[in-house]
Amino acid sequence: MEFTAQLQAYRQRTEQGLAALVPAATTRPARLHAAMRYSLEAGGKRLRPVLTLAACDLFTGTGEKASQISNLKPQIATADPLPAAVAIECIHTYSLIHDDLPCMDNDDLRRGRPTAHKQFDEATALLAGDALLTLAFQLIGRHYVGATALCAALTREIADAAGSERLIGGQMEDLLAEKKTNATAAELEFIHLNKTAAMLTASLVAGGLCGGATEAQLATLRAAGRHLGLAFQIIDDILDATADTATLGKTAGKDAKAGKTTYVKLHGLEASRRHAHEQSDAAKTALARLPGGAPFLVTLVENMAARSS
Ligand code: IPE
Ligand code: IPE
Ligand code: MG
Ligand code: MG
Ligand code: MG
Repeated sequence: MEFTAQLQAYRQRTEQGLAALVPAATTRPARLHAAMRYSLEAGGKRLRPVLTLAACDLFTGTGEKASQISNLKPQIATADPLPAAVAIECIHTYSLIHDDLPCMDNDDLRRGRPTAHKQFDEATALLAGDALLTLAFQLIGRHYVGATALCAALTREIADAAGSERLIGGQMEDLLAEKKTNATAAELEFIHLNKTAAMLTASLVAGGLCGGATEAQLATLRAAGRHLGLAFQIIDDILDATADTATLGKTAGKDAKAGKTTYVKLHGLEASRRHAHEQSDAAKTALARLPGGAPFLVTLVENMAARSS
């Protein structure tokens, strides 16, 4: 299938998964479930679930199953990656809801809509975020119960990426680096690797796990995720400095105003663009080592490097 049609198909599957697996907005307490769905249904690029679905297809599509290659994991059955993809989008969306709160980045606009705390109130936004994070692990527990080893591997992978040493740790250091005049490139790399690259990596690895990838293939997915994550956050920093609010669907120019330590602040626009390209190229090189050369994922990385929102 041609790239755009394939991307559309993965996004559609994600939307169907979200519709089916997240409690209805009318579920009691309706205000909480409506807030969860409000932020999820605002859309966004759905990059993480698309990575999970596409990574899984690399292994199930080629017939190159772990059980045929490695005796380490024949017990990890191949399985539908959709619940894992939805779980990851729930965690990502919770991280955005909390990221936007007045005590964090204090943003009014997200995914082209008022942020959750503006549309509802702070307490509801906080609880909707908590509930989306918890729902992710409810979904993993519920849908992979028949494949114990896979269920454990997914739980560990996603919980590690979302935890205090990765996503949340990155967010903590991001806040600590605010207004800091002497932040180093190494500190910023820690922030980017953890607040952003960790969940992008887990998205690819979760797909690999569902598809029965070997340890070596999982390591390649990790390498690709690290590079993609660095590229993705550098570009997010560039867009904050250069794009307009209407295109972004979130307030432009916030980072400089808040005195954030960003790639642009530390390295300047030109070097930021160059480094983003280098990291995207490294991600593509890693992905090309996967079965069939992973053409969809390679083009997706190119697409993300050239994105305007
Ligand atoms: C925004 O992520 C937060 C970052 C990690 C930069 P996305 O740019 O993927 O946001 P959505 O999901 O498309 O809204
Ligand atoms: C946040 O980074 C990344 C998350 C884990 C939510 P940013 O604060 O730069 O994300 P945006 O620009 O608000 O989407
Ligand atoms: Mg932030
Ligand atoms: Mg923010
Ligand atoms: Mg940003």
